[in-house]
Amino acid sequence: MSQTASAPAGENFSQRNFDRLSKLIDRYSGIKMPAGKRTMLTVRLRNRLLALDLASVDEYCSYVFEQGGAESELVYLIDAVSTNKTDFFRESAHFDFLRETMLPALAAAGQRQVKCWSAAASIGAEAYTLAMVLDDFRQRNRGPDYAILATDISTEVLAVAVQGQFPASMMDPVPPEFCARYVMKSRNPGSDTVRIVPSLRAKITWARLNLMDERYQADPDMDVIFCRNVLIYFDKTKQGQVLSRLCRHLKEGGYLILGHAETGAGAGLPVRGVVNSIYQKV
Ligand SMILES: C[S@@+](CC[C@H](N)C(=O)[O-])C[C@H]1O[C@@H](n2cnc3c(N)ncnc32)[C@H](O)[C@@H]1O
Repeated sequence: MSQTASAPAGENFSQRNFDRLSKLIDRYSGIKMPAGKRTMLTVRLRNRLLALDLASVDEYCSYVFEQGGAESELVYLIDAVSTNKTDFFRESAHFDFLRETMLPALAAAGQRQVKCWSAAASIGAEAYTLAMVLDDFRQRNRGPDYAILATDISTEVLAVAVQGQFPASMMDPVPPEFCARYVMKSRNPGSDTVRIVPSLRAKITWARLNLMDERYQADPDMDVIFCRNVLIYFDKTKQGQVLSRLCRHLKEGGYLILGHAETGAGAGLPVRGVVNSIYQKV
């Protein structure tokens, strides 16, 4: 049935269908959808209903569960429900730790390349911040070269990330000397969009990766893994599973960095706490 102005998309959404959708989302992505999120889910699915020419979330659920749409819809569903808030230099103490502790130690040990992973990268602010910090250290100290893997479950955010193009206001937390070196202004004077320089963009490999997947592919010898501000969407059991899997991809002595509000404690991980939200593999 087509959309009409008097019947906004998503109005009909039964409790049973909410339960079915939230179970599907949780099982696939680990993202919790408690009962209070029903309105949020309705709003976030509106564009999808329009794209599929469906009049309500109940119709959408028939399509997903009764007409075999579940598999093809998962990508869109996850795009619709994931929370992608991010910033450049977010929780900047983590980048200070890299600059002041991790990178000098690796340079002193003569390591030639640092391997980093931004494991819930969103639109890429975290990975580009990492690239700026690593590149700056390399230039100042003849430090190691670097390679960054940046992954996310959402195809929508990855499509933005790979372009490296952002509203100029997102650069407010970026130190001016980094802006001067690593951020290009548009040639169009009316544009308020900026772009990360090609030399940094070339250092990052982008990929879709679901942290819930038990058999994802990633190198086993990362020096540092950032997994920040995503665990909060998972229950305790899934948090532990995600972190254990990530630890398999860290080299001994490598660092696992979580969001300030997140913890790896109690998950039986092969790590020691260094400072709040930073862990080192033992
Ligand atoms: C709030 S953002 C955090 C971005 C960045 N790490 C930061 O701290 O600024 C959370 C990201 O986790 C991603 N995400 C959610 N569930 C995921 C999963 N199962 N696997 C991989 N990424 C996931 C979302 O798509 C979203 O982009």
